[in-house]
Amino acid sequence: MIVISPQVAGNMASMDHNTAPLLKVKGVSKRFGGLTALESVDLTVNHGEIVGLIGPNGAGKTTLFSVVSGYYRPTTGKVRFRGDDITGLKPHKICNRGIARTFQIPKPFLHLSVLENMLVGASFGAGHSNRQKAMEDVLEILNWSGLEDKAWMPADTLNLVQRKKLELARAMSTAPQLILLDEVIAGLNPTEAAEMVSFVTSLRQRSITVLIIEHIMKVIMNVSERIVVLDQGQKICEGPPELVANDARVIEAYLGGQGHA
Ligand SMILES: Nc1ncnc2c1ncn2[C@@H]1O[C@H](COP(=O)(O)OP(=O)(O)OP(=O)(O)O)[C@@H](O)[C@H]1O
Ligand SMILES: [Mg+2]
Repeated sequence: MIVISPQVAGNMASMDHNTAPLLKVKGVSKRFGGLTALESVDLTVNHGEIVGLIGPNGAGKTTLFSVVSGYYRPTTGKVRFRGDDITGLKPHKICNRGIARTFQIPKPFLHLSVLENMLVGASFGAGHSNRQKAMEDVLEILNWSGLEDKAWMPADTLNLVQRKKLELARAMSTAPQLILLDEVIAGLNPTEAAEMVSFVTSLRQRSITVLIIEHIMKVIMNVSERIVVLDQGQKICEGPPELVANDARVIEAYLGGQGHA
């Protein structure tokens, strides 16, 4: 019989965490009554990548985020994060493991200040060793997001771009390893959009892996190393931006449907 010491077993487990893809979605389907929002979707995101998730309206993009972040339990299939099965865990448990998401329609606590919203995020997050470190990290992210002069303003006084920044800052306050960004750029003017793009690309320097949904093709093509395309709940294409942009199925999905890209 081979006896493995607890230390060796621990090292093997951490090797598993380091070598496994950061996120692995396998055979995920989600049905809402008679409607199939996702059908047998596979998706892998590796450490340090920026992966774009695109598809026409109603393709299932936000639903996939909701499954990964625990807001919906998949009808079938598995979600693994750092090698661990997280399928069906509650959102706060998944957040605590290191996955943060932003919402397509920003959902701050409207009567709490910007800083308070971020502190709520930090309290659910993974990476803070103690309260003081959490506060330091939150203040650093507040400065990074450019919202420092709004720190004490109630969230309901913010305009759209400020709300989108708060959405990002709140997600960042949870100290995630993986961040799911749902249309953080859509609806902004070109100057604001460029600023938001620079936030997204700067996440790489912070060692944060990104899965981003965005309808603005120019933006998603520029920021993503790899793009995954959903159409009517199914993955129809995956690859580098230039390959995806020229794929006949992708062109058909956008031109044939009611997509607004
Ligand atoms: N809670 C729900 N109950 C019933 N149907 C839902 C629910 N959430 C999503 N759907 C349906 O699932 C399908 C996929 O929706 P989803 O919001 O994931 O699409 P999307 O790709 O994010 O679209 P968009 O680009 O418009 O944001 C749609 O037909 C939608 O109406
Ligand atoms: Mg959506």
